[in-house]
Amino acid sequence: MSLPHTVQPTPDRAVARHPAWLPPEAFGPLGIRSALVCGTGPLVDTVVEELTRAGTRYGGRVHRHARAGAVELVLALTGADPLPPVAARLAGEVAGTLGAEGFLLDRSGHVPVLLADTPAGLLYGLFHLVRLGGSAFDLHPVERHRPALDRRMLDHWDNVDVHPVMGQVERGYAGGSIFWRDGAARNEPDRIREYGRLLAACGVNAITVNNVNVHATEARLLTDRLGDVAAIADLLRPYAVRVHLSVTFAAPVVLGGLPTADPLDDRVRAWWATATRQVYDRIPDFGGYVVKADSEGQPGPFTYGRDHADGANLLAGALAPFGGVVHWRAFVYNHRQDWRDRTTDRARAAYDHFAPLDGRFRDNVIVQVKHGPIDFQAREPVSPVLAAMPATRLAVEVQVTQEYTGQQRHVCYLGPWWSELLGFTPWGPQGRTVADIAAGAGRTGTGAGGGRTGTGAGAGRTDTGAAGGRTLPGGGLVGVANVGADPFWTGHPLAQANLYAFGRLGWDPRLDPRAVLDEWIGLTFPPSTTGDPALVRRTLHEIMDDSWRTYERYTAPLGVGFMVNPRDHYGPGVDGYEYSPWGTYHFADRDGVGVDRTRATGTGFTGQYPCPWAERYESVEQCPDELLLFFHHVPYDHVLRSGSTVIQHIYDTHFAGVEQVKTMRQRWQRLAGLVDAAVHARVSGLLEEQLRCAREWRDQINTYFFRKSGVPDTHSRPIH
Ligand code: GCU
Repeated sequence: MSLPHTVQPTPDRAVARHPAWLPPEAFGPLGIRSALVCGTGPLVDTVVEELTRAGTRYGGRVHRHARAGAVELVLALTGADPLPPVAARLAGEVAGTLGAEGFLLDRSGHVPVLLADTPAGLLYGLFHLVRLGGSAFDLHPVERHRPALDRRMLDHWDNVDVHPVMGQVERGYAGGSIFWRDGAARNEPDRIREYGRLLAACGVNAITVNNVNVHATEARLLTDRLGDVAAIADLLRPYAVRVHLSVTFAAPVVLGGLPTADPLDDRVRAWWATATRQVYDRIPDFGGYVVKADSEGQPGPFTYGRDHADGANLLAGALAPFGGVVHWRAFVYNHRQDWRDRTTDRARAAYDHFAPLDGRFRDNVIVQVKHGPIDFQAREPVSPVLAAMPATRLAVEVQVTQEYTGQQRHVCYLGPWWSELLGFTPWGPQGRTVADIAAGAGRTGTGAGGGRTGTGAGAGRTDTGAAGGRTLPGGGLVGVANVGADPFWTGHPLAQANLYAFGRLGWDPRLDPRAVLDEWIGLTFPPSTTGDPALVRRTLHEIMDDSWRTYERYTAPLGVGFMVNPRDHYGPGVDGYEYSPWGTYHFADRDGVGVDRTRATGTGFTGQYPCPWAERYESVEQCPDELLLFFHHVPYDHVLRSGSTVIQHIYDTHFAGVEQVKTMRQRWQRLAGLVDAAVHARVSGLLEEQLRCAREWRDQINTYFFRKSGVPDTHSRPIH
């Protein structure tokens, strides 16, 4: 029977890919209900489509008319007219207070009522209900949700052409690009739509579709290949995901035929204005540009004797009339360093280049700062730039793709790490967190240099990052994407959890990463699909909760970083970068190891931090163990705060790390027959590789340091 105002069921879309955290079973509790959706617009249509799909499978119905019969679930825009009585009074009370992406969940009698001021809020609310599952229908207090960070963006390092060295996806470990193949758009709309669903369901609201290293073909996405970008934007729009483009700073020369890309040249300004207007003509909700300039060979304003504020403001000026932003990366350093030169310290570079520019960036510039001062190592201190630019919108950039954390061949759940990062307080325990900085909360913004009381390298600075002056929005959280054309999306099926956690922590950085993992487990392995839900849940926690620290244990010790094979960055290469131009050295000799970055005797990098961290990092006694070798060069018999010597710590952690991987492998075997066979087989195979690689790390690192130091392991375990 077909009812007026009732959406007809549509068949499930055939998608031959792993459903990740949106398997049909996750919608079961909503799918059996009779739901009412009030409101109009493409995103509301997406909500209806999701519920209809669930209803088709589980027998529920979706109504679009407020006077439908008995309903068991209401999702409504506060401004929808008419609203059913169960929602009307509440909507009257809260309308206009829920925010651009927020929502409210209340009960009217036993009927859950989800209200949002905007269609995006309704969509996020729907996925909240999916997370709640059956408990959405239990009585509990009213919940209000809105994201802490407005911008939650994934940067795809995808190339349109296959790059001779970096391939289709730079630092991609999940097969080809989901957008591009061999120089052309991949043209698989279902795949992109499914990706959009997954992003919306974890809270990601923006992506870039191409690599920050912009090669010749990719440069043209801005102009004659713009249609390809528009097609992706059309597919992702129904999931509230805005599309951005990485552009080359040299575009006016390489695309426009101008003799210069000087940011202060009027012809250059006019070229960017025209190109940008054409982008918005085609993609009215285009998000903006991402730029890697004067970095690792990419062109930038230095060529013209200009600085990064000049460069960023040029693009910001072109984007401003349309509400777009430019993400300007702070990853600027000398990658042609002479290793003999002990005065140049790559860790200092981003601060030295950018902190003096604070206050000079236009409001639609977001300076995008890698979380650590060097380059996505498994352990680095938090970048001091994040505390040094109170008058600038800052985004924190992390790597969801596991370039330096096992390349999606190793289990390495990154949620605990990002949680630590986002909760870090650069001005000490009472001050603002990194998440506050990314959110723009309490930002100063008093114009040039506003709010900073220190000078020079920042030594002795007393500012607290407290508010004052005009308020700037935050720059948000940015992650380098980890998905590809692999049937599991992420190569390692358990690496899906990192993408999920990225979105969820961007939405609410205070979430407990174990609780986020728990959500992911519940959605990805719904109880109805596993033989023993409690065992599956417990085992995945045992394997994943501490897996980042396990990875850290068997790889580079105590924050020293970069003991990887050059180029592919996989597996141990202790001296792989020691005599290279990249500025990533450990300085191990027969007596000790580590980089002296103190003010007293080293490169002075510790002075880039405000109090109290400048003092803590400067002091060899107070420096946290896990960062000791990042900040200090110490003898092998130096006693850590843990009570162990450096050399014994290296041996102990490397032996322990491998044992932990063996335990992971045993635990995973318990799940044979309890989870999807293809997932089980893929993870089993990868755990073999993780164990092989962990052993290689253990033996090379231990042997290297034994040979350098001559100090034996106190437990006489095999070292070669
Ligand atoms: C790392 C990575 C590069 C990438 C760069 C960046 O250095 O190895 O492939 O281009 O980061 O963040 O731009």
